[in-house]
Amino acid sequence: MITVDDVPEDTTMVVQAETPEDEVDEVLLTRVDGEVKAYLNRCQHWTDVRLDRGDGAEMRNGEIICEKHAAMFRVSDGLCTHGPCEGAMLPEVSVAADEGIVVLENGYRLLRRGSIDEDGEGDLDRGSRGGDDF
Ligand code: FES
Repeated sequence: MITVDDVPEDTTMVVQAETPEDEVDEVLLTRVDGEVKAYLNRCQHWTDVRLDRGDGAEMRNGEIICEKHAAMFRVSDGLCTHGPCEGAMLPEVSVAADEGIVVLENGYRLLRRGSIDEDGEGDLDRGSRGGDDF
């Protein structure tokens, strides 16, 4: 379980989520003005590049910065404001707070904290963070 208060404002938290297609993908969570925002953890320049590699994405002035080529995505709506994919939007995942608990919507289901490992199984952070399953 992740509470709204667990979600950072100055960086991101990566979680694994079941998608509407019954696959597992990474979603990054962050907060802007206290509201939780959720986006797929994929740069829109090269979609195989993660914005959060498991230890929080770099953020500055309310924008997530891709470490690869420095694209900047506005947290409030996911718009790329600068960089090689300027004008692209991060795919947003609808999110709600149910009595302070973060709940993904529209067919997404939050599974656990941490990144998917390279084999697509488990999560990279299980050992270091305890890999909370939900
Ligand atoms: S892969 Fe993110 S800016 Fe190029």
